[in-house]
Amino acid sequence: MCGIVGYIGGKRAVDFLLDGLTKLEYRGYDSAGVAVNCGDNIFIEKSVGRLDSLKEKLKNRLPAGTVGIGHTRWATHGRPSDLNAHPHTDCHGNFVVVHNGIIENFMPLKEELIARGHKFISETDTEVVAHLLEEVYTGDFVSAVREVLNKIEGSYSLVFMSKMHPDVLLCAKQENPLVVGLGKGENFIASDIPAIISYTRDTFILNDGEIAIVKKDSVQVINRQGGLVDKKIFHVSWNAEAAEKGGYEHFMLKEINEQPKAVRDTMSKRIAKDGASIILDELNWDKNFLDGINKIYIVACGTAYHAGLVGKFYIEKLVRKLVEVDLASEYRYRDPIVDDKTLVIVISQSGETSDTLAALKESKRLGAKTLAITNVVGSSIAREAENVIHTWAGPEIAVASTKAYTTQLILMFMLALYMAQTAETISGDELKRLINLLKKIPAQISETLSDVEPIKTFARQYGFNEDVFYIGRSLDYCVALEGALKLKEISYIHAEAYASGELKHGTLALIVEGVPVIALATQKSVYDKTLSNIKEVKARDAIVIGIAAAGDTELEKYLDHVIFVPETDELLIPLLTVVPLQLLAYYAAITRGCDVDKPRNLAKSVTVE
Ligand code: G6P
Repeated sequence: MCGIVGYIGGKRAVDFLLDGLTKLEYRGYDSAGVAVNCGDNIFIEKSVGRLDSLKEKLKNRLPAGTVGIGHTRWATHGRPSDLNAHPHTDCHGNFVVVHNGIIENFMPLKEELIARGHKFISETDTEVVAHLLEEVYTGDFVSAVREVLNKIEGSYSLVFMSKMHPDVLLCAKQENPLVVGLGKGENFIASDIPAIISYTRDTFILNDGEIAIVKKDSVQVINRQGGLVDKKIFHVSWNAEAAEKGGYEHFMLKEINEQPKAVRDTMSKRIAKDGASIILDELNWDKNFLDGINKIYIVACGTAYHAGLVGKFYIEKLVRKLVEVDLASEYRYRDPIVDDKTLVIVISQSGETSDTLAALKESKRLGAKTLAITNVVGSSIAREAENVIHTWAGPEIAVASTKAYTTQLILMFMLALYMAQTAETISGDELKRLINLLKKIPAQISETLSDVEPIKTFARQYGFNEDVFYIGRSLDYCVALEGALKLKEISYIHAEAYASGELKHGTLALIVEGVPVIALATQKSVYDKTLSNIKEVKARDAIVIGIAAAGDTELEKYLDHVIFVPETDELLIPLLTVVPLQLLAYYAAITRGCDVDKPRNLAKSVTVE
């Protein structure tokens, strides 16, 4: 998704702009640009493609100005091109704008502006903002920006620069993240914290409707009416290195290997010292509250949706309440049956996914109780939900989500245990048994990670197949969906997951000699049925790779390759079985020479519909 940076201070602005944009590369983009105020003119350079192309264009002609803005674009209105890349300007180059989000009413505005003589050079929605500014400006920059904001509809984070006001950058936020970093004699603007953490840890996180007036030595935040907003400084505690690759070839591999620590962090401080109960300080639910809930929705997108599917099993099994899992992009438009007896749980790593945020807002409007599970403190979803539990997975940079998924699973499991203990649907002994097994998971993930060689071999052997199938029943099916998504995302191999029981209803027609099938067989309650399904595909000469729990002696009798994960309760085993599937996808992508961390056409955080 798009990235924004801004600098005002005493140093050469372009150095921070290029560095900040580099730190935001993980968000995915197709073009980039910078604008620097050089006194008598505003220097602008833009380029389609990677940041390196922009840097190449800037070689030997870096502008000296100390005020500037920069942007990485992910095309929405108009194809990726030099002209459509941001920053955008008005007719005379007096105002320069960068923008994340969508101006929904840009078409009528653009027609009116053209009718009044404005000349547009791009196909973007953003350019109208610069031209509008030119129209309403009468000498007061802040008032002009406020007037423009009154005319535009949609979602945005915007940063404005003006030739006439070289001492200030203005920014505005509506449903898209924006942060101001506070330095000494210099201040920074960014759409995400990693861009600025090596410069400052003190920030203002802007809220919807706020405008920041950022000068070299001061930052003022006002609301749309012009009233001063008293902002609290948010001190970022992340280590700058936490956003670096830390010795791994790719962020994805680093993040896969970070899972033992990430899930331990998620659990930390949430298990009582005696190991007999779950503590979720964020929630103060009691039995009455839970008895009053008659239906639960889990709503999310992508990998987070897959975590939701597992969460349904946890809650239904342990709390005996009906749970529906919905894709946020479907839920928000299908008039869901929601009232004040409904609990809506949204899951989002970034906390910024547009469909998930809209589903959350719709749920609130319908009167539901809401809970967000997210990784990003201060994110839009975290701020919108009534209750929030953070996964504490640390920044996830690779587009393909790994540690976010496992930490979401941990949190869904802990939430189900917390609800069960509160609603009294679990015995004390069972609770203790499950907590005890939960505590072993970090070490068991480490053990699973240590056995990577067979997975590399499979990836090399089958990495050039064009279709791969994943099968499983019950929770194995949920994990199969996530495994197939990982493979598709980063290796571009066509991968599909099927509930094993569905094979004979269609998919079996696709199983022919040599087709790789990944078969998960860890769920004891459906083990025999799963085994029959595996025999069905094996009988058609598929190459079947089994995923089983340690101690399984059956599967090896039928299959040439079986990957074992440590033994645990069948509810917790998805936390282990997903690991070889993540690694398989990673090494298949490497075998095919794909850009693992930045797969084509995909973005880490999808903040447009
Ligand atoms: C994008 C990412 C996925 C992610 C999904 C939901 O598609 O590429 O990895 O699962 O968005 O993102 P969220 O931040 O809401 O979990």
